Formats: sequence, C-alpha cells, structure tokens
Amino acid sequence: MPAIDPDFAKNRQTVEDHEGHAVFGPIEAPETLGIHGKVVAVDFDICIADGVCIDVCPTNVFDWFDTPGTNPHKSYPDLPPLIAERKADPMREADCIFCMACEVQCPVQAIKIVQ
Ligand code: F3S
Ligand code: F3S
Ligand code: ZN
Repeated sequence: MPAIDPDFAKNRQTVEDHEGHAVFGPIEAPETLGIHGKVVAVDFDICIADGVCIDVCPTNVFDWFDTPGTNPHKSYPDLPPLIAERKADPMREADCIFCMACEVQCPVQAIKIVQ
C-alpha cells in the first residue's frame, strides 16, 4: 500500500501556493495533483476521499476541495477505489493542534503531520 513520503519537503519542490498553503509537485492537472500543505500535508495523489480526516479533526483544519478528473491510480495503481473526485484540503493547517487523529486514521496513509 502506498503512503505519503515523510520526507516530501526535502524530496519535492514547492510549485505553487493554494489559498495560503504550499503545494509540492510534480503536478499534471487534472490527474496528478501533488501534496497540499506543509504542516498538515495531504498527498492528493493518494487521497481517495475517504473523509475520516475531516470527521475527526478537532480544529476543523480541512475543507473538501473538488478535483474533477483526479486519478490517484495513475501514481499508485494499488490504491483502493476512488470514492469521489475531491480531496481533503488542509485550508487551516495553522490551526492544527497535532492530535494526529487524521494521520493515524486515514485508510490510505495520505497524510503526514510535520511538527
Ligand atoms: Fe486535525 Fe490532524 Fe491536526 S486531525 S488537529 S489536522 S493532526
Ligand atoms: Fe483523503 Fe485520507 Fe482524508 S483518503 S479524505 S486524506 S482520510
Ligand atoms: Zn490545497
């Protein structure tokens, strides 16, 4: 099973800013979308839209972000089926209190918390 690279900040380049958080490439939209966030990092190419991260976060860090045409299986063919064409976007990563619930509970290990 794939998992987000814990050293993504070293191994990838920041390619853009999305609503105040960094995006690490490579990006080839709409299929390949990179990693959003630096403190609360979500690998959009692993996220299958399970949503447990949004449900468990005590400080409401995430918002759904629609990503029509996303294809995480292009990067990771072994992923479970995509649930929806949307991602958990760490819109308020500065509000993270490092409870780690999202990282632990994401079924595809798409999230890395960097303290
Ligand atoms: Fe929320 Fe995850 Fe931080 S659940 S508080 S974003 S560790
Ligand atoms: Fe995606 Fe994992 Fe959240 S699949 S929606 S990052 S629980
Ligand atoms: Zn984003």
